[in-house]
Amino acid sequence: MQNAAIAALGLNWCYLAFEVRPEELRAALAGARAMQFVGLNLTVPHKSLAMDMVDALDESARTWRAVNTLRVEGRDRNRAWLPIHQFTHEPPDKVRLQGFNTDADAIVRSLREDAGLELRGKRVLLLGAGGAGGVAALKVASEDVAELFLVNRTPSKAASIAAEIRRRHPNVRIQLGYPRGEVDLAMNATSLGLAPNDPLPLDEQQFSLRQARTVYDMIYRPAETPLLRAAKAAGCRTANGLGMLLYQGAKALEIWTGRPAPVEVMRQALKKNIYG
Ligand code: ATR
Repeated sequence: MQNAAIAALGLNWCYLAFEVRPEELRAALAGARAMQFVGLNLTVPHKSLAMDMVDALDESARTWRAVNTLRVEGRDRNRAWLPIHQFTHEPPDKVRLQGFNTDADAIVRSLREDAGLELRGKRVLLLGAGGAGGVAALKVASEDVAELFLVNRTPSKAASIAAEIRRRHPNVRIQLGYPRGEVDLAMNATSLGLAPNDPLPLDEQQFSLRQARTVYDMIYRPAETPLLRAAKAAGCRTANGLGMLLYQGAKALEIWTGRPAPVEVMRQALKKNIYG
């Protein structure tokens, strides 16, 4: 999706994938800075490791304690930090890496644009309390939902996220376990559904999909998980996690270029590459 967007913007850039071992991350980042790459994305497990390895952290990275996007910046004559690609005539006197997080905002954007859901005042059931689930829970809570129910195989992980939400967002009612009655959104942030024979990520004895108006699965491959299939059969509105992947990438591109991302070009490229 990034190369399709780069072509659409007419930039003479190229987006490449590198496999980097965690113990080599510091060296890889130093190399990217030395070679004055425009920027980088990081994925698991580098997102949290990089917090201590960058020269500056945007507020988004500080809030989510994870870095998925890096911008290489140069210092100009007026001591202002600018994207490195803007230094076409005079070299910068210093170069630094700034870390951002574009994952959390992508969750809310995908819920809004792909599932037609505004979170404010809503009742939400979130399944999963791992890396992705933790960020999703905190982000959803920060959108002033009315009530958030957290369910996880390992209850202590859900409990520690709930404690953090109570600290950060005291107005959100947060409960561990399944809700009674209806919810506006049930969201899967577990890895159940990645494999074809996975069970549903929820206990149907305790929660029926008929209780959910919208069901969102953060998994995007397969396009239709068993959860989404069951949710459609129960009459729910559904969306998968492709939008999250798309919008975190679109925001990263905007951070690098300073220009609006061609989102539909990126969406088509993603669909073609992922679903064939
Ligand atoms: P990610 O970065 O994708 O969030 P993760 O941090 O390993 O990956 O989290 C995986 C999530 O899927 C967790 O909520 C995990 O539950 P636990 O916290 O109990 O490990 C959940 N998960 C994975 N396999 C599961 C299974 N077989 N049944 C129920 N939940 C499962």
